[in-house]
Amino acid sequence: MDIREYNRIAWDRQVEFGNPWTIPVSAAEIGEARLGRWRILLTPTKPVPRAWFPDLAGLDVLCLASGGGQQGPILAAAGATVTVLDNSPRQLAQDRIVADRESLTISTVEGDMANLHMFDDGSFDLIVHPVSNVFVPDVCPVWAEAYRVLRPGGVLVAGFTNPVRHLFDFELGERTGVWQVVHALPYSDPASLSDEEKRRLAEAGEPIEFGHTLEDQIGGQLTAGFVLTGFYEDRYADEEEDILSRYTASFIATRAMKP
Ligand SMILES: C[S@@+](CC[C@H](N)C(=O)[O-])C[C@H]1O[C@@H](n2cnc3c(N)ncnc32)[C@H](O)[C@@H]1O
Repeated sequence: MDIREYNRIAWDRQVEFGNPWTIPVSAAEIGEARLGRWRILLTPTKPVPRAWFPDLAGLDVLCLASGGGQQGPILAAAGATVTVLDNSPRQLAQDRIVADRESLTISTVEGDMANLHMFDDGSFDLIVHPVSNVFVPDVCPVWAEAYRVLRPGGVLVAGFTNPVRHLFDFELGERTGVWQVVHALPYSDPASLSDEEKRRLAEAGEPIEFGHTLEDQIGGQLTAGFVLTGFYEDRYADEEEDILSRYTASFIATRAMKP
């Protein structure tokens, strides 16, 4: 199964469906960002602390697997030179729609977060990587490539899922009201789902997911050479929509520096 091709089609369909992570920011948010009043998300609800960011003016920023017209346009309006890389043409089109609407300059690049061959070593000062490595089978190459394309002193801010989310079958839990531990970690949709479940996922236009271990998410950044300088957890605000959020935070954000 070609995961990247499958997820390209799935995320293009998510744009059609109006998935919240495909909805571009408003003109009002861009106006505020131009005045220095901005915030972005890496995880469902908690804004990234402003202290995590260097002064954005003139900074080369890569929004990694971050299409959808959200982080990229805000950071461009706040003064950064922004490149958005994503696997979904429709998600990248959302960034171009905001750029055209607001007269912002944003480069959009279709590609794989795990292979940034189109960028030279040391091309960026800041990488913004919201929850999206759940859509690739191996996260370690993502950290290695992020490290390579950052300049020394550069910063990587990343959001990712706590693997605890993947212990459960959400569809089963919602249908039966009984939440059981059914999957082993690390988790993989292709390896764990039955053919029937995969068929239903494809029909619904849902992307394929992977639940990486914390060893790969956090240890992987350290192995790539990063020094971790910030950490927080997050959860969905609507605990009815996301039952697990009643019990625990299940998203993580980290700030890491390339020495
Ligand atoms: C949840 S959305 C994140 C973007 C959003 N701006 C946000 O605020 O979180 C996940 C994104 O990852 C992208 N993606 C999935 N697999 C990818 C890959 N292999 N390489 C690059 N982007 C990928 C999807 O196309 C989608 O735009």
